[in-house]
Formats: sequence, C-alpha cells, structure tokens
Amino acid sequence: MADRSESVKRPIGVFDSGVGGLSILRALRAELPLEDFIYVADSGFAPYGERDDAFVIERAQRITRHLLGPNHLPIKTLVVACNTATAAAIALLRQGFPTLPIVGVEPALKPAVAVTHTRRIGVLATRGTLASQKFKALLSSLAGQAEFVCTPCDGLADAIERHDTAQIEALCAQYIRATGQFGIQNGEIDTLVLGCTHYPFAGDVFQSLVGPDVHLIDNGEPVARQTRRVLPHLAADANAGQVTLCATGDKTALAHACEHWLGWQLPVQSLTL
Ligand code: DGL
Repeated sequence: MADRSESVKRPIGVFDSGVGGLSILRALRAELPLEDFIYVADSGFAPYGERDDAFVIERAQRITRHLLGPNHLPIKTLVVACNTATAAAIALLRQGFPTLPIVGVEPALKPAVAVTHTRRIGVLATRGTLASQKFKALLSSLAGQAEFVCTPCDGLADAIERHDTAQIEALCAQYIRATGQFGIQNGEIDTLVLGCTHYPFAGDVFQSLVGPDVHLIDNGEPVARQTRRVLPHLAADANAGQVTLCATGDKTALAHACEHWLGWQLPVQSLTL
C-alpha cells in the first residue's frame, strides 16, 4: 500500500469500451474536481456488449494492469465505467487486484424503483449485461417491487460510438417500441433505466420518444459518490485536477465526443494494449 503523500497524487483510472464512460467521468469530475483522472476508451476492441465474457474479462484485466503499470503514476482507484465489463469482470478484477479499490456500474434499478408510480420500468442495456448472473441477481433482489421490461439494444452503443445520428434515432425508436407503452397511466412504463453508459448520450432522443413525463435514469452520480467513499485519500488542493484521455482505437472519436458532450477540449493519446 502506498504511503499517504504518494496516494494523494495518484490519479483515478476510468475505463469503458469507448466513449460511454465519459457519462460517468462527467459525474466523477463534478463530485471530485481536484482529482486527476486517466480515462481509457478501449475503442479498438469495442463494442463489448455483444462479445463473450472471456473477451471482456481479458480486456478489463489488461487495461487494469496498464493503469497500474510503470508508464505513469499508478492509479489509486479504478472505476469500471461500463455495465457490461462490470457484469463480466468486476469479481475477477477484485480477486486479481485485491489492494485496489474498484467501483463498478450496474443498471440503476433501485433508483428506478424509488421513483416509479406505475411500477412498470423499462431497462435498456447490452445483451451481455442483461444475460449476466450479476444482473439476474439484481433483478431477483427486487422481485415483487416492480415489473421490469428488459430490452437488449444490439448496435446502439456502436452507433453512439460512431456518432451516427440517423442510426441512433432508428435504433432508439426500434428498442422503445419493443419495450412497450410509455406514459404515466396505470399499466404504462413511467421509468426508463439507461443501463449502458453510452445511452445517456442518446438521452434527448429517448426522452422525445417516451414523452416528457417519463423518468430517464442512469447511474453516473451514485457511482461518483461511491468513488468518493472508497478513495483511500482525497487529492490535495494543489492537485491540478487533470484529465488524461487515451484510446486503443480512433482518437478523433474520443476527442470529438468529449468536446461535443462534455464541452472539454482535450488531446487524446494512442494506446496499444
Ligand atoms: N458502455 C458499455 C456499457 O455500459 C458498453 C457498451 C458496449 O461496448 O457494447 O455496457
């Protein structure tokens, strides 16, 4: 375990298959403005959502080793800013890196139960997340509290990754239709969980499809609060609060997404992993 002064200076590592984890990074920066962050977009190997667990586990382990590795100050905490990678790999990451605090993200079913009136909740996520044991356990833990209508959204994270507006609109419409009738009357779905970190970036499209009264819920803020709780040491005032962006694939896509959605103009480093 690092001594206190070293740990204070260490960055927080954040990764996702691509640009989606920026929705978590935004919440992390708001909660922890003095911390340094290293964000890895594994875009050379995205999307994760339609791959098998072994692939996602291998990528998650490789990225974690890199973030702890000799090329920079090792991270003090890891945020797995990806529902799919959390479902597939977080248990093994915690086992493999037992001294590293690791925070994951899972579809926000509990916050959805807290706000629904009709007790019907739509859940959009990747095929991998919805098929996982972790998600099934989460669903069972809430049995009887609401009805969850879950729709796997093949191709949507990829369309968001490519910033393909026409495809995003077409897929959102298709998956909202497949999920059911939205609204605030009895029998209608009044709450929609965006269970993939890419989907908040299609939030406006979803909201216009389901109507203004339907709650859209994601887990950015709870994940940021949980990260604050597990941090071994908070950054000191003197820390610059820097964000370093890295991509294993298209650098321009990450830089563009960061500027477009977060309003941050930042360079992106290429990463070969
Ligand atoms: N953003 C990711 C998630 O939260 C993964 C999307 C993908 O790569 O398929 O699940």
